[in-house]
Amino acid sequence: MDIEIYTGDRAALLPLFALADDSPSAVAAYMPLGEVLVARDGAVVVGHAQIVATAETDTLELKSLAVLEPRQSQGVGRDLVAATAARCRDRGARRLIVSTAAAGIGTLRFYQRQGFRMERIVRDAFGPHTGYPEGLMVDGIPLRDQVFLDMVF
Ligand SMILES: CC(C)(COP(=O)(O)OP(=O)(O)OC[C@H]1O[C@@H](n2cnc3c(N)ncnc32)[C@H](O)[C@@H]1OP(=O)(O)O)[C@@H](O)C(=O)NCCC(=O)NCCS
Repeated sequence: MDIEIYTGDRAALLPLFALADDSPSAVAAYMPLGEVLVARDGAVVVGHAQIVATAETDTLELKSLAVLEPRQSQGVGRDLVAATAARCRDRGARRLIVSTAAAGIGTLRFYQRQGFRMERIVRDAFGPHTGYPEGLMVDGIPLRDQVFLDMVF
């Protein structure tokens, strides 16, 4: 498996972006931004990691990350996070941030295992006002609050 900077048509990555975020309007807004790394198995893209700028010049954000379902739990996500951190360091960043749903216990576990630490919570970030369907649950917990995590280099 190779990880490289993606230079193709972003629209071809929509299924991966949609896997990482339940809000089609949010995905449409940020999908064209920044830089995308992809994990390739031959010609097949099996995962992606999108790096975008933030308001702080020394901080980059891992905005979207996903691995195709049949290829999950095989280390691809871990390799994508490691490649993202290396790329951000090469670009001169001092900090990498990521956010996810407070309800996504498995994802919070995954990010902490990759070296991220919890930083802050934004209550009620997810709901119809931001394009997320009413009543969405993750692991039996309402999809409502957003957790930011960071990794300092
Ligand atoms: C989250 C995601 C990117 C992880 O990628 P992956 O390739 O499946 O993860 P890896 O195989 O590299 O897993 C690394 C470790 O994290 C653990 N892990 C990964 N996803 C997990 C989950 N959802 N729940 C609990 N543990 C998880 C793995 O068991 C593994 O543990 P180990 O170190 O003991 O082997 C992937 O599952 C995915 O695409 N999920 C759907 C999209 C998504 O939720 N994106 C993030 C939104 S913010």
